[in-house]
Amino acid sequence: MQDLDSIQNVDFTRNYKRMWPFVKPYWFRALLAVLLSIPIGALDAVVAWALKPYMDVVLAGKADHSPLFIPLLIIGFTTFQGMLNYFATYLNAWVGVKINHDLKKALFNKLIDFETSFYDKTTSGSVVQRFASDADAACTGLLDNLKLFVSRLCSSLALIAVLIYNSWQLSIIAIVVLICALLPLAQLKRRIKSFVIRSVLEGSKVYSVYNETFAGNKTISSYNLKKKMFGRFEDYLKVLFKLSMKVTQKTAWLTPVMHIVVSIGIAAVIGYGSYLIINGTITAGNFVSFITALIMLYGPIKGIGKNFSAVQLSFLAIERVFSLLEQPVKIKNKRGAKPLDKIKKDIEFNDVWFEYNEGAPVLKGINLKVKAGTTIALVGNSGGGKTTIVNLLPRFYDVNKGSIKIDGVDVRDLKLESLRENIAVVFQDNFLFSGTIKENILMGKEDATDAQIEKALSMAYLDEFVAGLENGLDTEIGERGCSLSGGQKQRLAIARAFVKDAPVVILDEATSALDNKAEAIVQKAIDNLMKNRTVFVIAHRLSTVQNADKIVVLNDGEIVEEGKHENLLEVENGAYRALYNAQFKTRPESGKKAS
Ligand SMILES: Nc1ncnc2c1ncn2[C@@H]1O[C@H](COP(=O)(O)OP(=O)(O)OP(=O)(O)O)[C@@H](O)[C@H]1O
Ligand SMILES: [Mg+2]
Repeated sequence: MQDLDSIQNVDFTRNYKRMWPFVKPYWFRALLAVLLSIPIGALDAVVAWALKPYMDVVLAGKADHSPLFIPLLIIGFTTFQGMLNYFATYLNAWVGVKINHDLKKALFNKLIDFETSFYDKTTSGSVVQRFASDADAACTGLLDNLKLFVSRLCSSLALIAVLIYNSWQLSIIAIVVLICALLPLAQLKRRIKSFVIRSVLEGSKVYSVYNETFAGNKTISSYNLKKKMFGRFEDYLKVLFKLSMKVTQKTAWLTPVMHIVVSIGIAAVIGYGSYLIINGTITAGNFVSFITALIMLYGPIKGIGKNFSAVQLSFLAIERVFSLLEQPVKIKNKRGAKPLDKIKKDIEFNDVWFEYNEGAPVLKGINLKVKAGTTIALVGNSGGGKTTIVNLLPRFYDVNKGSIKIDGVDVRDLKLESLRENIAVVFQDNFLFSGTIKENILMGKEDATDAQIEKALSMAYLDEFVAGLENGLDTEIGERGCSLSGGQKQRLAIARAFVKDAPVVILDEATSALDNKAEAIVQKAIDNLMKNRTVFVIAHRLSTVQNADKIVVLNDGEIVEEGKHENLLEVENGAYRALYNAQFKTRPESGKKAS
């Protein structure tokens, strides 16, 4: 959130420049909408202006022709103004929604481009807040307010012209009073900015609570966290309440103060105006027209004040939107990146260092060579860095030092899409999309044939389960696959990886949620899958990794042993042997007790 704090000065021209690419495709319509606001605003003055000849002609009894044309003129102008207004509003909404959607598309593109580390540091609440609400605030603020601002400004200018036309002496009083009333507005932005920034931060926390309540509802129930969650929610709302009251405190005095200043102005005008009529400087018509224009002026002027604070808010939103849009994506295609078509020789980790947080290396000088077509198993203590190693291969993260090369080419010099196309991953915690089983498998390969899907299903030991379902492959699995069991979810993820048919396969605890029978079958399927592929298997259950061409034992970010199962078992005091003994010596005994 450091980028929020760094917003010190809201720069008007810079913000309009930043928005320009989004306005550009629609500039003509946008301009038309703004231009239409000019007559809409200016026509307000017609009514006030028309009162003077009307008053003078009718009240002074100087009518030598029927004054009927003046009321008709007023109706005519107002109708014309109304039509223009409709057209301008329509145009404005059209342009506004278009720009809003383009901005959201750009933001969404950025969001899906961002590397994994962005998501590590960002909450779901702030994603909703900053990628959706801020885009709305940015657009509504700018366009609607620009249109209203122009029409109010024109209306004010036209009404001021009517004032001056009627009496320059009274106009001076009125204008001085108006300036006094407007002065405090200039201060407004600085006063409320820090509160607005904090409101956004706190607001995103509220969204996060909603999300966590949704995703974590079982944990909340089982640990009786309802009160605690509610308390947290209430606390955030309290903070928001205080903040919005602070903003109100800072802004609400404006309107009454303006009212008072304006009433003083009107009083002064009436007093001095009566004197001017008596000594014959102005006519009664001048006076009525003047007062009408002055009262009518109050609306648009006050509106401009509102516009002004709304534009402030939208500029702050624009700052936040562009701080995201301009944030560089760290993991992307290099210029001249080459495509990866097939892995012929090997994958090589050279002195790879990696840290998630500065100063806390998770991988410390990993050297590893994996021949194409072989299987390598990663075992070792929990938190040792196994998942981290395989995360570096598809570039979810980039190494801090050293390199990972495929057939001698650094993965950072490869086209990202082609690199990822070549790697199928079954994660430790797999994400399934809402939709049907079939749709989820097709995520692995968009154009998979039915035969390929069937094969993936049977390879993942999922065919029996699917056959037993009323709707078969078209069964909806709910958000995140919530209507499936843990093992079924895992097998669906395996099927999705199978169907991708990629030359490199990463299986991170892929069979951990399966029963022994299922595991044995899936293991066979995985053995099939492994043929002619380069495979990284991570497993705590050593039975699944015994057949690997090479087993690597990783402890606290360092490779402590590597070799074949049989050879590693022979190492006196070896790490693998210790792991193995811990698993297999105790198991048979406890098994005996149970039977
Ligand atoms: N996104 C992250 N941000 C910060 N630290 C992380 C992140 N992911 C993992 N770590 C830390 O990095 C270390 C290695 O984690 P990793 O997931 O690679 O371990 P692992 O060997 O796969 O463990 P397990 O067998 O439990 O899955 C751990 O200490 C973990 O706390
Ligand atoms: Mg792991």
